[in-house]
Amino acid sequence: MEKQFLALVVREQADGSFTRSIDQRTIDDLPEGDVLVRVLYSSLNYKDALSASGNKGVTKTYPHTPGIDAAGVVEESRSADFQPGAEVLVSGYELGVSIPGGFGQFIRVPADRVMPRPEGLTLYESMVYGTAGFTAAASVAALIESGVSSGDGPVLVTGATGGVGSFAVALLAREGYEVVAATGKLEQRDYLTRLGASEVIHRQELLEGAGRPLLKSRWAGVVDTVGGAYLAAAIAAARYQGTVTACGNAAGAELHTTVFPFILRGVRLLGIDTAQLPLPQRKTLWQRIAGEWKLPGLEQIGRRVSFAELDAEIERILAGGQTGRVVVDLWAD
Ligand SMILES: NC(=O)c1ccc[n+]([C@@H]2O[C@H](COP(=O)([O-])OP(=O)(O)OC[C@H]3O[C@@H](n4cnc5c(N)ncnc54)[C@H](OP(=O)(O)O)[C@@H]3O)[C@@H](O)[C@H]2O)c1
Repeated sequence: MEKQFLALVVREQADGSFTRSIDQRTIDDLPEGDVLVRVLYSSLNYKDALSASGNKGVTKTYPHTPGIDAAGVVEESRSADFQPGAEVLVSGYELGVSIPGGFGQFIRVPADRVMPRPEGLTLYESMVYGTAGFTAAASVAALIESGVSSGDGPVLVTGATGGVGSFAVALLAREGYEVVAATGKLEQRDYLTRLGASEVIHRQELLEGAGRPLLKSRWAGVVDTVGGAYLAAAIAAARYQGTVTACGNAAGAELHTTVFPFILRGVRLLGIDTAQLPLPQRKTLWQRIAGEWKLPGLEQIGRRVSFAELDAEIERILAGGQTGRVVVDLWAD
């Protein structure tokens, strides 16, 4: 009999609504690909929650299994690069967006989408980072490369308690930056301080005076994970030759700004994309995460949940209630 496994399946109903259920699937249901992976862990990113709730900007065709991150063991392979039993990561590209993703116990993907587990991280640890931690690392690397150094002044992180935000706070603090964490959850002040924030502010504070072309010069660097009015305000308050990275849109996709921060203060705005990042760059950044940027106390950031608990976590992240990272254990009861 064809091998059966469990997967979260999102379906579009006749009335345009979407439902989610954990269903039996067979390996034949998976698309063609060189490498069949038994997924041990996935993780929950904001993008997964959008895909799981029927957002057609992320996933156009349903039924669909989300999950942009997967860590597991090669079950079968037609590629000489991967032998059965090898521990691997698959994330980004089409995974969990247009092909069945890590919220299923098996995935099948082309070999050029697969990378060996980075030495220095377990499969579980790699999913505590997942795409969110990877994006934080890409943002911090971009700030450093643009010339922002730890003595230049405070670096702002928006959406600080979220997945990208938590890792950005911790990585920046590890690199010696003075980190100001902006959050809607002031009750998580201790969590952010433990991660390394020097100061925790309510995100509303960023919007004081918003709309003016320039605000009081404040940030040497910014890791923005939310977009919208917060990104605009962060740009307006960036210091002379400060760098602002933009990776997210949890607060809005629009950006209303003027040219003045750019032409009067030389502010640099850098876009961060990790979904299409070529595999060689992906491997290099993962090696850095597993090496010099491996953080102690990952258990502070990551929480393990079972398949059965995933649905509630999807609702929580959509409502902006996520703190840290959720790792999905695909085989837990
Ligand atoms: N460009 C890329 O390659 C890439 C990769 C990964 C993620 N992303 C994007 O990065 C963002 C963060 O992803 P994530 O997985 O870290 O999500 P997350 O865990 O949900 O974190 C987002 C955080 O943003 C804040 N937030 C949520 N809704 C908000 C609102 N309406 N207004 C202001 N702040 C709000 C909350 O933090 P506080 O309560 O602390 O304020 C929330 O915890 C998402 O937009 C995601 O799509 C982009």
